[in-house]
Amino acid sequence: MNKTSLSLAVLCAAAMLGMPYAQSAYGAETRRAVNGVPSMEKFQEVSDIVLDKCMACHSRDYDLPFYAKIPGIRQIIEQDYRDGLRAMDLNQELVGAAKDRPVGEVALAKMEWVILNDTMPPAKFTVVHWGSRLTDEDRENILHWVRSTRAAHYATGTASAERANEPLQPLPSHLAVDGKKAALGEKLFNDKRLSADNTLACSGCHAYEKAGTDNARFSEGIRGQFGDINAPTMFNAVFNTRQFWDGRAADLQEQAGGPPLNPVEMGSTGWDQIIAKLAADAALTAEASAVYPDGWSAANITDAIAEYEKTLITPDSRFDKWLRGDDAAITAEEAEGYRLFKLYRCSSCHVGRSAGGQSFEYMDLKADYFADRGAPLNSDRGLMGFTGKEDDLHRFKVPNLRNVELTHPYMHDGTVATLDESVAVMGRYLSGIPVSDNDRRLIVAFLRTLTGEFQGRPLSGTPVER
Ligand code: HEC
Ligand code: HEC
Ligand code: HEC
Repeated sequence: MNKTSLSLAVLCAAAMLGMPYAQSAYGAETRRAVNGVPSMEKFQEVSDIVLDKCMACHSRDYDLPFYAKIPGIRQIIEQDYRDGLRAMDLNQELVGAAKDRPVGEVALAKMEWVILNDTMPPAKFTVVHWGSRLTDEDRENILHWVRSTRAAHYATGTASAERANEPLQPLPSHLAVDGKKAALGEKLFNDKRLSADNTLACSGCHAYEKAGTDNARFSEGIRGQFGDINAPTMFNAVFNTRQFWDGRAADLQEQAGGPPLNPVEMGSTGWDQIIAKLAADAALTAEASAVYPDGWSAANITDAIAEYEKTLITPDSRFDKWLRGDDAAITAEEAEGYRLFKLYRCSSCHVGRSAGGQSFEYMDLKADYFADRGAPLNSDRGLMGFTGKEDDLHRFKVPNLRNVELTHPYMHDGTVATLDESVAVMGRYLSGIPVSDNDRRLIVAFLRTLTGEFQGRPLSGTPVER
């Protein structure tokens, strides 16, 4: 894409972003706030700044400047161009995404962090004049845009005024569901007949008393088989943009179609096998037919399970109470842990209501996690396992951190036993900022405030020791 068509695309994005504010589309400078939300009047400036000062390193197929061809400089630039793209593909985030949805929460949080910490454009480049520094006004415009976009699209309206623009937001107390479908879904989620040998239900690996996990490195499927990837919790999975570590299921319904036929999980040979067993159960079949007139089918079974999973959310953690304005809900140390969580860039990826689940990030972003760990796993491919694209190697869906003190062990490979080590690993490989012992202690204290309630009682599970 050349600079002109890119510029046009960004301006389209600007218009799209301004959509809730009819008058503030590109070109018009309105200062009107709609529903108390700051208006988007600054986006034109932001798109100019981003085009001028950011896109060159954060967009594929962008014309590199002529001196990029000078030997020596070329190597430096190519490496950093690659690193910049891996950190954030701005073309995809701002232009691509804007076609059908607002700019993502992760892109906003990442932009906010680099502006607040004044790290972009990287100093070494402004020295060689490739990309120029941001002025104070540029910074102010970008921050204003981040905050107004967040307020328009991601604020839940339940945080206190003072905390309404935090990158993390309170979980809702409940989601709208079809009660009959959900009741059927609950039964199916706990029904061992979904497995070939009638020994394993969904809740066998996503156990209620273990915060929706199995607290094991890898899950045990039927006939003692093991996969090579850690089971995430199904609690709050409804907030994920896509499902599975590699995002291969678009939503919960598609996800629920996977395990029953997965040979190392529930191992059924086909839906016919499952349906034959369920159809033999007259009472359950009557209940299902009342909800789905066309009777048992793969689509109806997975639809009911997905509906039930909307009820598997864990609101009212101490952190949520704090976000809603109850200052005493967390201690001063825990609040300091949250400040550090933002400072160490954790909230650039672990954003939103469920503190994650919104983007796919490279586990080896800042250092080679896989070389350091050794013993390669098939699951290490991450997103590439789904898309087949080389660029997606080692990219994983960011796990949600709700109830994280109960969902050990950690990471897709289940190799990390404690939260303390998780924070150290994240600092080294994802944030690129080593976290000191004391800061790790404070961040872990904050992470423990994310444990919520299920059906009005604290979520069951065994808290990790450290
Ligand atoms: C000259 C190339 C270059 C320019 C220009 C540039 N960046 Fe970056 N950016 C990088 C590189 C390289 C990284 C990877 C981290 C690092 O090496 O500091 C990065 C990382 C980032 C990240 C992720 C945070 C991180 O530390 O990994 C964000 C967000 C970002 N840039 C935003 C911007 C914005 C916004 C602008 C424009 C104001 C900009 N960048 C301009 C090269 C660039
Ligand atoms: C044998 C153990 C096992 C069984 C049985 C099982 N799961 Fe899972 N579940 C896993 C593992 C392991 C993953 C991660 C797999 C991956 O990402 O490739 C997972 C992933 C998920 C996810 C995605 C969560 C996220 O954050 O991406 C959901 C939702 C889920 N399972 C729900 C279910 C439902 C519904 C059933 C029953 C139909 C079920 N699981 C049966 C082990 C199991
Ligand atoms: C660039 C994005 C990014 C940043 C920055 C980041 N994380 Fe993560 N985080 C991830 C991804 C991706 C994973 C999953 C990695 C894997 O298993 O391959 C993860 C995993 C985790 C886990 C394990 C959760 C689980 O259920 O397995 C914890 C805890 C965590 N991060 C906390 C943090 C903290 C604390 C920070 C800041 C020091 C941080 N993260 C910074 C993307 C990020």
